[in-house]
Amino acid sequence: MDKKITIAIDGFSSTGKSTLAKQLARHLGYVYVDTGAMYRAVTLFAMQKGYIGEDFFNKQALIDSLDAIKLKFLYNPDLEFAEMYLNDVNVEKEIRTLGVSQLVSHVAEIHEVRVKLVEQQKHMGEGKGVVMDGRDIGTIVFPNAELKIFMNSAPGVRAQRRFKELVELGQKVTYEEVYKNVIDRDYIDTHREDSPLIKAEDAIEMDNSYISKQEQLEKVLVIAKKIISN
Ligand code: DC
Repeated sequence: MDKKITIAIDGFSSTGKSTLAKQLARHLGYVYVDTGAMYRAVTLFAMQKGYIGEDFFNKQALIDSLDAIKLKFLYNPDLEFAEMYLNDVNVEKEIRTLGVSQLVSHVAEIHEVRVKLVEQQKHMGEGKGVVMDGRDIGTIVFPNAELKIFMNSAPGVRAQRRFKELVELGQKVTYEEVYKNVIDRDYIDTHREDSPLIKAEDAIEMDNSYISKQEQLEKVLVIAKKIISN
């Protein structure tokens, strides 16, 4: 039987990490874990409790209530991926709004939040056969992952993709707002003190500004299969 490996996919926001991770998981029969969804769900919790808003953030209140946050992924066979549940409520749609995107990087800066989520992520990947995407997967969560990919693409290309996705989800947003959000998140994610977004030394860098999703998948699958069969 083929050995199972861990695949870590990191990179800037809206670089298509989750698309690639989902495709890889499907082809290899692996479990896909979207760690950004977990940070988004914690952000939604903080918004619902009134701990965070456009111009305020009661960090301590969020830290004090971390034990009251239960996160779970449940596989939806119709959509063929695992949806995010916050305290047993499906929040998959709510966590993808621009409102959550505009606040999530501030929540992801909090050390206590990261400790809680990283612990859960390590646990989910214990049995290998997992493709996990995020910002610190190859550096902090699985520094020994057999395959690490670091994704990037031009900010304008990323904002255009994200804008299209949000419009398709029925959200009323402008391209300028989405572009600003992409740039702001890049800055915060790469400059925070705890686990900033950086490329792991042994990660393979992929710029997908001008290659198709299919081409990208094929390239990575060749590499993954080589590692698996070695
Ligand atoms: O992947 P995403 O855009 O859904 O992630 C949302 C935010 O969560 C992102 O701006 C930074 C944060 N994040 C993180 O800090 N660490 C991760 N492993 C995943 C996401």
